[in-house]
Amino acid sequence: MLDFGGITSAGSAWESRLFSVASEKMVGDKQPSTNSPLTATITLSILEDAEQALSGRAGGALEDNMSVTPIGGRLHDELRRKVTTASLREQKLRHEPITCLTAYDYATARLVDEAGIEMILVGDSLAQTMLGYENTLSVTVDEMLHHVKAVRRAVKNALLLADMPYGSYQIDSEDALRNATRFVKEGGAEVVKIEGGEKRADLIRRIIDAEIPVAGHIGLTPQSVNVMGGYKVQGKNLSGIEHLMRDAVALDRAGVACIVLEGIPREVAAMITAEVGTPTIGIGAGPECDGQVLVIHDLVNLTFAPAAKFVRRYGDAAGVISQAVQGFRADVKSLQYPSDEESYHLPKETKAGLDMVLARKRAMQR
Ligand code: KIV
Repeated sequence: MLDFGGITSAGSAWESRLFSVASEKMVGDKQPSTNSPLTATITLSILEDAEQALSGRAGGALEDNMSVTPIGGRLHDELRRKVTTASLREQKLRHEPITCLTAYDYATARLVDEAGIEMILVGDSLAQTMLGYENTLSVTVDEMLHHVKAVRRAVKNALLLADMPYGSYQIDSEDALRNATRFVKEGGAEVVKIEGGEKRADLIRRIIDAEIPVAGHIGLTPQSVNVMGGYKVQGKNLSGIEHLMRDAVALDRAGVACIVLEGIPREVAAMITAEVGTPTIGIGAGPECDGQVLVIHDLVNLTFAPAAKFVRRYGDAAGVISQAVQGFRADVKSLQYPSDEESYHLPKETKAGLDMVLARKRAMQR
């Protein structure tokens, strides 16, 4: 979460279930449960009588379209090249802007990947956007991995980056290496992101030596919120600028795949971008960066808070979701949903058999 003078990015209470899909398939050939009203009124002998009429026709296979996110059916995958750390450098050389968005779940990651975004970051901002934490400090490696794995299953072309959360690389380099390896081995991440500049250079070299590409992240680094004394734009004075330049050069020399520049003046980001061969990806760092990243919840208005200065809203998911939910509620309450067209029906023969069973039952009761 970024908070520039009370303006917050990536709001705190994202309802993860809003994007979840119905995971239970409806099964057409399910037997009536023993405590269902239907079973209670039909005796076993009558059921046996009707067996012939009902045989093989009660229910059947799953219907074609069920309420789960369809797997497969991608149209344009073959036409797009897989993004790699090398292709990012080529983009920088060609002055072709690089796009990056966060994603934390399967459905969103698929949409982002299929839209042709080059980099997808499972950011530790999921602490706020997905888990409702106050800041990024409490999210754990296991929580991050849970989301990285979901995103991995969705992403085909984009380069997949995972944030190393606070505490997963600060203790010692063995621990950092072990955690970075988990993101690659268990999560399927292609790059891990670490906050901090010069002081992380040796650690970053070690991780790269272990064949794991690393993304740097300097400027406003949210994991340092307590040291910074809040979410403050960095590099606003000469010593701050010098500090940032040293950080950027150290990361460049360490061989990072890209450098996220967060919350720094446009002029400083431009200087850094011109100075280093590594692609710079800005967030609140102006247009001269080699690429831009935003938190997807900021982009689509799912933050429950006013947007930061640098955020441009490209959609109103909160509005769309609220309207849909209210519509559903109103329709159910007024018995408008589901309609007959939205209901399954018995096959003709089964219906006839069932009518026969019910008629006999009624006759027996008289
Ligand atoms: O966690 C995150 O979402 C990030 C981006 C803001 C770059 O680090």
